[in-house]
Amino acid sequence: MDATNNKVPTTRARLGQFLTLEGIDGAGKSSHLNWAAGYLSDQGIEVVTTREPGGTPLGDQIRSLLLNASMTPATECLLLFAGRAEHLAEVINPALSRGAWVISDRFTDATYAYQCGGRGMVPERIAVLESWTQQGQHPNRTWLFDVPLAVAKQRRSIRNETQGSDRFESEPEPFHQRVQDQYLQRAQAHPERFLLIDARQSIQQIRQQLAMDLDGLLKSYRDRS
Ligand code: TYD
Repeated sequence: MDATNNKVPTTRARLGQFLTLEGIDGAGKSSHLNWAAGYLSDQGIEVVTTREPGGTPLGDQIRSLLLNASMTPATECLLLFAGRAEHLAEVINPALSRGAWVISDRFTDATYAYQCGGRGMVPERIAVLESWTQQGQHPNRTWLFDVPLAVAKQRRSIRNETQGSDRFESEPEPFHQRVQDQYLQRAQAHPERFLLIDARQSIQQIRQQLAMDLDGLLKSYRDRS
């Protein structure tokens, strides 16, 4: 009996693939999400695109708190996982179970990067929440968009002229440096899952790299089914 009442598909029931996009603010990841979804749709794959924080009506309310309200690092972390539990139960797991592929703009690697790297929370606390919420479930592939801090800062300032900056974006440079360091450490620790993308490349070059990766994922997915 699953005490969390969270419908986590077993490995056999999980049919679709789960892809995530990560990177510091201003790395430029989000512009590639819809392109990747289109690429997979053209190959006959059902794709669900989503994001964190957010992804559900409740998650969007939590997102608004996270981006705007002042709170302790512990509250921030707990809210992120509350939204994630809802996101998994309502969107991610049902989609994977029916064979759709899910592409999420950020997931738990962001919590390690921002709350552990950025805010200084100990990773063991995040790991407890991760295993409770995800029950061993992780993305199949994570694209980490890597860009020098100065480039990301410039991209943020262009975007913020129209949108304004949220609680995370307005953190000082050392915060973003720690987030980046933590992301790179995670990529090193999980080389089978992470693909590092040099986000200084042209959009065309990045798409070429992503297309090659998606072709490989599609091939092993089809060989298995
Ligand atoms: P995001 O939607 O990527 O920002 P944008 O609106 O600029 O596209 O994410 C919002 C912020 O939330 C981002 O600055 C990182 C932060 N965040 C965390 O701190 N921890 C997390 O676990 C997640 C998913 C996001």
